[in-house]
Amino acid sequence: MRSQSYTIHSDDEAEHTNYQFLKDVLDGLHQEPKHLQSKYFYDKKGDALFQEIMAMPEYYLTRCEMDVFQNKTNELASSIMEDTSPFDLVELGAGDASKSMHLLQHLKNAKADFKYMPIDISGNILSVLNEKIQENIPNLDITLLEGDYFDMLKKTSKLSARRKVVLFLGSNIGNMELDEASGFCNKLRKNLNKGDIVLVGFDLKKDPKIILNAYNDPKGITASFNLNLLKRINNELKADFNLEQFEHFQNYDPLTGACRSYLVSLENQEVTIDGQSFYFKNNEVIYMEVSQKFSITDMEEMAVNSGFKTVNTIYDSKEWFADTFWIAD
Ligand code: AVJ
Repeated sequence: MRSQSYTIHSDDEAEHTNYQFLKDVLDGLHQEPKHLQSKYFYDKKGDALFQEIMAMPEYYLTRCEMDVFQNKTNELASSIMEDTSPFDLVELGAGDASKSMHLLQHLKNAKADFKYMPIDISGNILSVLNEKIQENIPNLDITLLEGDYFDMLKKTSKLSARRKVVLFLGSNIGNMELDEASGFCNKLRKNLNKGDIVLVGFDLKKDPKIILNAYNDPKGITASFNLNLLKRINNELKADFNLEQFEHFQNYDPLTGACRSYLVSLENQEVTIDGQSFYFKNNEVIYMEVSQKFSITDMEEMAVNSGFKTVNTIYDSKEWFADTFWIAD
């Protein structure tokens, strides 16, 4: 039997999404310092560049979490199936689901009664995901949800009243400032019911050189990943960024655990976006992305402050990365 899969989009038309993109870009570039949101990295080219990043020897995160999903699948599945009632497995920022695929396969083999509901902002990567699922786990019940996390999470509650198991992997939580991440977890808790489970992947604080190298690769793939957002703005928002006049700069602060990327303007220049002019001084930066690193204490604080209780934390063999189960208290 081949499973049915269908995609649910945001209520917004594509045009509305474009309008939101324009608004966020204009707002961000009016700020001091100038800022662009890294969630907009993921157009088709951005998806492909992120796939390249994941394959880089320096980018250890994906391999570490893959180690957990391949080699500790049993432990992951037990935490989920301890409660034997049927559930919806919701994945925030599912991407191509290369890690969760191992868990899905295991849960299917164990005859768990569940539906898979991957959420992603990129419709492009969701269709890649869907093809992989149809090929590897054809009898999986799947609903693709294209849009922002909470819009789509609300849809999952409307679709069924079953308990929720939410995956938030890859240290995607690290793309938020710490206070934003706390707010996010609070909001997540409010959208769940007591007894629901969340599995969050955290990249851990470690040797600062190892962290910096993961985001400062010699081939410049991470640089292209950042610059691609300027290209996307040119293509989609009628802008004229000259990509040669910006250079990627990466920084890791071991005290705060924040790994940040910037694009540095290489001269005094003016850029027009949708008819509006923006001035960039020589050496002025656009702050692009934070990839926050965490200690176990940081993780525990985040759980407690947002109304979750930690039930189990699973590490990769190097202990560079942690996947932690929280239960809604
Ligand atoms: C997809 C958010 C986990 O921050 O490590 C990779 C994105 N940025 N290299 C990360 C990213 C630059 C990545 N996450």
